[in-house]
Amino acid sequence: MSLQPHGGLLIQAYNPEEKYQEIHAEIEIDAMALSDLELIGIGAYSPLEGFLSQKDYEQVVNEMRLASGTVWSIPITLPVSKESAERLIVGEKARLLYKGEVYGLIQVEDVYEPDKAIEAINVYGTADLAHPGVKKMHEREDVYVGGKITLLKRPVKPFKQYTFDPIETREIFKSKGWKTVVGFQTRNPVHRAHEYIQKSALETVDGLFLNPLVGETKSDDISAEIRMESYEVLLRNYYPEERVELGVFPAAMRYAGPREAIFHAIVRKNYGCTHFIVGRDHAGVGDYYGTYDAQKIFDQFEEQELGIKPLKFDHSFYCSKCEGMATTKTCPHDSSAHIILSGTKVRQMLRNGEVPPSTFSRPEVIEVLINGLKKEVVS
Ligand code: ADX
Repeated sequence: MSLQPHGGLLIQAYNPEEKYQEIHAEIEIDAMALSDLELIGIGAYSPLEGFLSQKDYEQVVNEMRLASGTVWSIPITLPVSKESAERLIVGEKARLLYKGEVYGLIQVEDVYEPDKAIEAINVYGTADLAHPGVKKMHEREDVYVGGKITLLKRPVKPFKQYTFDPIETREIFKSKGWKTVVGFQTRNPVHRAHEYIQKSALETVDGLFLNPLVGETKSDDISAEIRMESYEVLLRNYYPEERVELGVFPAAMRYAGPREAIFHAIVRKNYGCTHFIVGRDHAGVGDYYGTYDAQKIFDQFEEQELGIKPLKFDHSFYCSKCEGMATTKTCPHDSSAHIILSGTKVRQMLRNGEVPPSTFSRPEVIEVLINGLKKEVVS
């Protein structure tokens, strides 16, 4: 596998020196757009140089490709209010403000009204407003602005020591001598199934890039602060230090299941990964997707047009007869011996005041979660 960024070039659009005093048009952006602005600016979304223009947007929604033909599965859009859209001039620049502060510029290429009903069905596979990704899409403004961006200022980060740009992670992997690196996406506190699939992957590649998503998530997901602590304690106690790198992924969660799995893989390729773990119901929510839909979608693309290899894992569980983690591929016992784990279940147990057993999660991790949730309740 090669370590080429997606589309061949790592986009670098961060320029804190760029002057913007002469630019008066302004767009107020939301937290999701702010994280996308930063991720475009640092090249994590290469080859995107900005928010999608209408042509790219439609191709992405309908074909999972940019107008150039490059695979891209999630529309990265800049929604603006009708009033601010009316003030924009195509061909000119506008400032991008979050909570009144300037974070970037956009060279306005076009201003268009998306068909959100089609976006919902094609990207999320449902029109149901109870789906958190669909709900979010509808809550955002109804006009999209396309165009190249400049990132002027980096949003302040809570996880500074774990914040690396793609250019840095590529350097880190190289300096460690890793030729193959597997990326791992997660939005949940770490449990035994995560550990099992990460370590199974680690048996065959040089390094693991544990890359938890710390951008916007739905309100009942466990906060990024607590999750980060859970990863730290797990790594300290159960992983060989020289084979793992922990770094945050500041994107917002879309809950788009299969399409988001492709997106997650491509972005990890930009960070320098050669492989990417896709387990059961990756980036899923509720019952909107089949258990392995996020694995099957990879078959729609040639391996070289994705440029990162998915490592697909079956639903793994703790088997009380095997006395260890397994899947139906490796365990002969029936389901009465299986303890099914999931982030959602751990979350529910903790919120009900129950202590998940060590077959679910390592005791050190459980301790972090219990203490973290207590603090959450107090504050
Ligand atoms: S996700 O929304 O970020 O995908 P989560 O943090 O739960 O959610 O999962 C991280 C990764 O671990 C995903 O690739 C997911 O498919 C995988 N995974 C989670 N639980 C299991 C399990 N019990 N068996 C196999 N894979 C799993």
